[in-house]
Amino acid sequence: MISDLEQAVAAIRAGKLVAMPTETVYGLAANACDPEAVMRVFQVKRRPSFDPLIVHVTDQEMAAHYTVINETAASLMDVFWPGPLTLVLPRRSGLADAVSSGLATVGVRSPDHPMAQELISASALPLAAPSANLFGRVSPTTALHVQQQLGSSIDCILDGGPCRVGVESTVITFDEQRQVLVLRPGGISIEHLQARLGYKPRMVSSDMHSAEHLSQASPGLMKNHYAPAVPLFIKQQSEAWPQGTDWGCLSFQDEVSGIGACEVLSSGGDVEEAAQQFFAALRRLEDSGVARICAELVPPQGLGLAVNDRLCRAADKT
Ligand code: TXA
Ligand code: MG
Repeated sequence: MISDLEQAVAAIRAGKLVAMPTETVYGLAANACDPEAVMRVFQVKRRPSFDPLIVHVTDQEMAAHYTVINETAASLMDVFWPGPLTLVLPRRSGLADAVSSGLATVGVRSPDHPMAQELISASALPLAAPSANLFGRVSPTTALHVQQQLGSSIDCILDGGPCRVGVESTVITFDEQRQVLVLRPGGISIEHLQARLGYKPRMVSSDMHSAEHLSQASPGLMKNHYAPAVPLFIKQQSEAWPQGTDWGCLSFQDEVSGIGACEVLSSGGDVEEAAQQFFAALRRLEDSGVARICAELVPPQGLGLAVNDRLCRAADKT
C-alpha cells in the first residue's frame, strides 16, 4: 500500500489515485486532465460533484497553462509559492470540467513538499487533489490516517511523514475591483496576506457559509465539515470544562482533569503548533471511546483563525 515515487507516477499516468503528502494535509491526487480519474476522486471521497477540487502545480509557469493570472495573483504566487495558498482564477482549457464542478474558475496551488513536487513534475501532469479523507470528516495529516480511512479504495499512498502546517491552504479569490477575498482561512495567515497586499483582505464570514452567497462563491465551504465521529461542542470562554468520563476535551494550553481523555494542542501557547497538532488530536479523541468532545477556541491570530474555522464547522449544530 505504501508505495515509492515510481509506482505513484505510474499510477497517476494510468488514471489511478495516489494519496500524496503536502505541507498542509494529505491529498488524494489524480490527473486533473483525465475526466474519469477526476470522477473517481469524487466517488472514493463520497464528495458531492458540486464541490470543486484544487489543482496542484509545480510553479507559476505551470499554473499559467491552466489559469489566467492577474498581476496581484502573480505577486502573491511570487511570495507564497510553493506554499499553502490556493488562488481561484479564471480557467483555461485543458483540465477536466469536473475538476471545478463546471465553474468558470479553478483553484490552483503549488504544494511545499518535495514528494508532491516530484509527483507533479515526474508525471508532468497537473494533479487534482482534495484532502484525502471521506467527505465531511477530519482531514488526514499522516499516511496512517489515510490508510485507515481510504486504504481499501485507493491504489497508492506516499508516506512523507506528518504534515508540517497541519491545516489546509488559505483559499482566496478576487472581487470585481481585483481586491482579494478570503474564501477559507488556512496555512497562510491573514496578517501575512495583509502585509503583502497593503490592505486587510475581506473574509467571507462563516455565517454566510450555508447561505446562497457561498454556494456561488465557493460551493464546498458549507458548515458541518471536519466532523469527528462523535458530537463536538465548543466551550465559551466564560464556561468551565465539563466533567465526567464521557467527555473528551480539546484544550489549547492547559491539561483538563476529571474527564475521559484530554488533548492539549500547545502547552507553550503557540498557535502554529496548535494548527500542526489539531487534526491528529481530534482523531485521537474520537478514537478514545468518549461519547462527546468539548473544545475551546484558540487565540484568533495567525493560524489560529484557520483552527477556529475548522472547529466551528466541526461543531454539532443540532
Ligand atoms: O491544503 C489544501 O488545500 C489541501 C491539500 C491537499 O492541497 N486540499 C484541500 O482540498 O483542502 P479540499 O478539496 O478539501 O478543499 C478545497 C476547497 C473546496 O471545498 C472549495 O471550497 C475551494 O477549495 N475551491 C476549490 N476550487 C474552487 C473554485 N473554483 N471556486 C471556489 N472555491 C473553490
Ligand atoms: Mg477537505
